[in-house]
Amino acid sequence: YQIKEAKFNKSASRVENCPQDDLPEIAFIGRSNVGKSSLLNMLTGVKNLAKTSSTPGKTQLINHFLIDNKWHLVDLPGYGYAKVPVSEKAKWEKMTWDYLLQRPNLLYVFVLLDIRLSPQKKDLEFIQKLGENGVPLKLVFTKADKVKTMEGQKNITDFMGALSETWQILPEYFISSSERKTGKTEILGLIEEIIFP
Ligand code: GTP
Ligand code: MG
Repeated sequence: YQIKEAKFNKSASRVENCPQDDLPEIAFIGRSNVGKSSLLNMLTGVKNLAKTSSTPGKTQLINHFLIDNKWHLVDLPGYGYAKVPVSEKAKWEKMTWDYLLQRPNLLYVFVLLDIRLSPQKKDLEFIQKLGENGVPLKLVFTKADKVKTMEGQKNITDFMGALSETWQILPEYFISSSERKTGKTEILGLIEEIIFP
């Protein structure tokens, strides 16, 4: 599966302002700076489609990107960035959860996890809440180019182990590097199955 055309459609600060259509959509969520916007650019093959930054907190709105005029990829603000004022954080959190729990178009959420890190409480809690609310999700371990394979594997095993304490059936996961463009075929293959069953 290859994306032929990807273009920015709309930014929204509330779920009510998201595009009024019935196109299916897939969203990326994860800690600030984990690589959501970079992954979106890698998958679409359009370099600066979603704005990226080495400073966490770059994406601040719900951004819809129209793919091949048929579906949307949605870039969301990250969570867990300490330097954002509490009021801002609360605002993003409400916007994101309203979107994740109330958007009828949303078919799947990809939760991105930094492959360099041991299991993080914040990520486990976030995934737990998605699960409790029945939001279908997949995992993507990002920045694979930044670790040795063995170290990455250990972090993944530890994370899945931590998840298995509360999850019966573990979610499927992918490994990606936006830098080296790995994981693209696998993730797009799954997206195709979700969007065009
Ligand atoms: P927020 O919008 O702030 O929540 O961040 P984000 O999750 O969208 O992250 P973004 O894509 O902006 O990437 C954050 C930083 O990580 C940027 O400096 C990227 O270049 C870098 N980055 C993202 N993915 C990769 C990757 O696979 N490998 C490497 N080496 N760097 C990456
Ligand atoms: Mg971003």
